[in-house]
Amino acid sequence: MIDSHSIRKNIPALANGVAYLDSASTTLKPQTVIDAMNAYYQEFPANVHRGVYHMSERATAAYEHAREQVQHFVNARFPEEIIFTSGTTESLNMAARMCAQSMRKGDSVLLTYFEHHSNIVPWQLIAQEKGVELLYLPVTENGEIDVEAFDRIIKPNTKILAVTHISNASGIVSPLSQLVAKARAHGMRVIVDGAQSAPHMPIDVQALDVDFFACSAHKMLGPTGVGLLYIRKELHDSIEPVVGGGSMIREVSLHSSTWADAPAKFEAGTPNIAGVIGFGAAVSYLHSFGMDAVNAYITQLSKKLYTTLESLPYIHILGSSSHEHQHGIASFIMDGVHPHDVATILDQEHLAVRAGHHCAQPLMKLWGVPATTRASLYIYNTTEDIERLKYALEKVYSIFHRN
Ligand code: ALA
Repeated sequence: MIDSHSIRKNIPALANGVAYLDSASTTLKPQTVIDAMNAYYQEFPANVHRGVYHMSERATAAYEHAREQVQHFVNARFPEEIIFTSGTTESLNMAARMCAQSMRKGDSVLLTYFEHHSNIVPWQLIAQEKGVELLYLPVTENGEIDVEAFDRIIKPNTKILAVTHISNASGIVSPLSQLVAKARAHGMRVIVDGAQSAPHMPIDVQALDVDFFACSAHKMLGPTGVGLLYIRKELHDSIEPVVGGGSMIREVSLHSSTWADAPAKFEAGTPNIAGVIGFGAAVSYLHSFGMDAVNAYITQLSKKLYTTLESLPYIHILGSSSHEHQHGIASFIMDGVHPHDVATILDQEHLAVRAGHHCAQPLMKLWGVPATTRASLYIYNTTEDIERLKYALEKVYSIFHRN
């Protein structure tokens, strides 16, 4: 059960009275998470996996404990399937590079129009280097991913499905189980961008049957600069590391090296130790409510957001026409007002929303808009935040349509 009012008391940044509706960009941080990171810096700020002294062993224990917390959060089978990265962008770049190792010129990857740039640009770089082709699943008239087009779009040498779980620009939830089933039927590997889904719903990487799953701590109450790349254990031996350096080796000679076992093999260099500890604290905080409760709360609040926005005739929500598969995010335009102007005036009313292309320019092009204003929700939002948004939007509209 989510009690947003008591959660709000644990979020220092809400003390100034802001209606924070930009959690798809990054969430606010509970004191519990800040305290966990401060404890590392104040009490045991040593490196991990290196020292034999007490402080270092304490840091290593806290770091590896966080790995187990995150493992349980996504229901991975083994802790070594959890690779800490700097965030979803790095995770998706790594997954693409790892998959590209066994791809050849003429092979292809299947993406969707809903991908964030971080699941498009890495593949474009690989396309330039290796001659790999990028294929895109189209969008239905209803504005959702066209699963039926899957068999028509793929080619005999389509090796990878790389797909977002929830679109960061629209909140549309992908029909993931259908997509994965089709990909498996064609022997494809599956990469899922869970940046927007992992904060909102229970994630079970085994049930989802994915090979790679990426998400960021900062979109689920954790710190910036840390994220997860889940890599299915069966792939560990066949994948070469994509970043080399300290910690990830078994033995180095002048002209060759051998690798440590995962997860070290895929985590070169000193990691973001405080960030990982904060990530663990964030998932543990979410776990105290249960992700089913988080999902139910955001689903209920999303309905309020969509119906409230739809009650304003000059607001148009982009994406799915029914909102049935839309979750936690509303991208909209206001008649006659630029999205950035909307966001700027909302800021004067002490509301935080994002305006722009949301790192999803192909989707903006499909929608025929250069940008949108986007409101997004998390567990500390309340129906009052949505009421405030409504009143502030009415004010924006009246400012621009005075005569
Ligand atoms: N990917 C983040 C967003 O959607 C930054 O705003």
